[in-house]
Amino acid sequence: MESQEQIGPNDQIQTTHQAQQALPSDREKIETIRAELPVTRRYLYFNAGTNGPLPTRSHDALVASSARDLSEGRIGSAAFTRLLQNLGDARIALASVLQCDPTEIALTHNTTEGMNIALMGLRWQPGDEVVTSVAEHPGGLYPVYLLHQRYGVTIRMTQIALPGRDPLEELRSVLSPRTRAVVLSHVSWATGMTLPVRELADLAHSVGALFICDAAQAAGMVPSNVYELGVDAYACSGQKWLCGPDGTGALFVRRDRFGDIQQTFMGYFGIQPGMSDHEGHYVPANSAQRYEISTVSPAGLRALQASLRWLGEEIGWNWVYQRIATLGRYCYDALSTLDGVTMLTPRDHMAGLVHFRVEGIASSELTTQLEAAGILIRDTHDPEANRISTGFYNTEEEIDHLRQAIAQIAQIHTVQLTQAPE
Ligand SMILES: Cc1ncc(COP(=O)(O)O)c(C=O)c1O
Repeated sequence: MESQEQIGPNDQIQTTHQAQQALPSDREKIETIRAELPVTRRYLYFNAGTNGPLPTRSHDALVASSARDLSEGRIGSAAFTRLLQNLGDARIALASVLQCDPTEIALTHNTTEGMNIALMGLRWQPGDEVVTSVAEHPGGLYPVYLLHQRYGVTIRMTQIALPGRDPLEELRSVLSPRTRAVVLSHVSWATGMTLPVRELADLAHSVGALFICDAAQAAGMVPSNVYELGVDAYACSGQKWLCGPDGTGALFVRRDRFGDIQQTFMGYFGIQPGMSDHEGHYVPANSAQRYEISTVSPAGLRALQASLRWLGEEIGWNWVYQRIATLGRYCYDALSTLDGVTMLTPRDHMAGLVHFRVEGIASSELTTQLEAAGILIRDTHDPEANRISTGFYNTEEEIDHLRQAIAQIAQIHTVQLTQAPE
């Protein structure tokens, strides 16, 4: 592996990791998984939180779809039947990940689109309140700012998901009879904290507010049983932990919330067939298809389905979730024993995101230096940190190697810093 050659043999560092190693029976499985993800041979791939690795079969589905478009064309009755089948199958596949009825799934192009659809759908009045957190991603946060600008909605900002904050206490302290929606992530992109979504949603409901959940980091990383979570809307992306292509995603809206979340956009599937007239009367589609904004790339949906079949039917979701969480803790324990490293992620409330700071080196610099060593992580900036995503395809050895690389880079930097004043 390229990157391993860059760390010298003298850089061995004893690890005292508490989390358990992969079982021997898992080793073969992990090898098979990695063979399907060519990029894992090129890099130590620790950034599913931005984009997951693409499986060969999903790439092949993209290419096959494109080849058929080329040779057979994209029109004609057979092509249209194929398209409808593809859209329907994609909704079923995504519904099985979120454990809901396929009629509660709207196909989207990404999480941000889903958050916008859900948030813009409420009948907002000036003085209504929306609760969110400074730690939310712009994909959910900026639509909240738009509500403020456009409708005079009051934003009740919290510190939920930041280190040392109790999410339930934070939420309790800002809820009021005017709260119309609570907008929070299932897993925080900024600290890696997994939020107690069920309890938060129950609190939101106790004042009559909807719970609109950003699941960009959750779907494919942790179990996403939307009924058990009690969410009203749940928006996710295909390209991250689900290992699908860009431009795919889903929005779950609970059927009994269709009346609360109005349509903001109107597309081909927005109206029940035959139920409109030219005066503008219409009956919305009797499913979450009412929220869909035109066509999602058919090739992309085929590729996403290939990824989901692989994850769900061959590898198994329970195994995926457990492996990600086991590696997350292994990584946490590995890094927390390094001098000068401060962990930001709460170990008791985490899964596959590990946030940390290394004393004396800017987070962006650490990302850059690791990339030069063939290791892909990212830096996040509010709060300032580096973030590792532990994928089900990673290994304990890769994490040990990452730890060594961080230790080595931090040491080099320390030397440079102490030399600088001379
Ligand atoms: C928590 C969270 N929400 C939303 C997004 C945006 O996702 P998308 O590009 O699919 O809209 C991200 C992407 O990193 C994210 O981490």
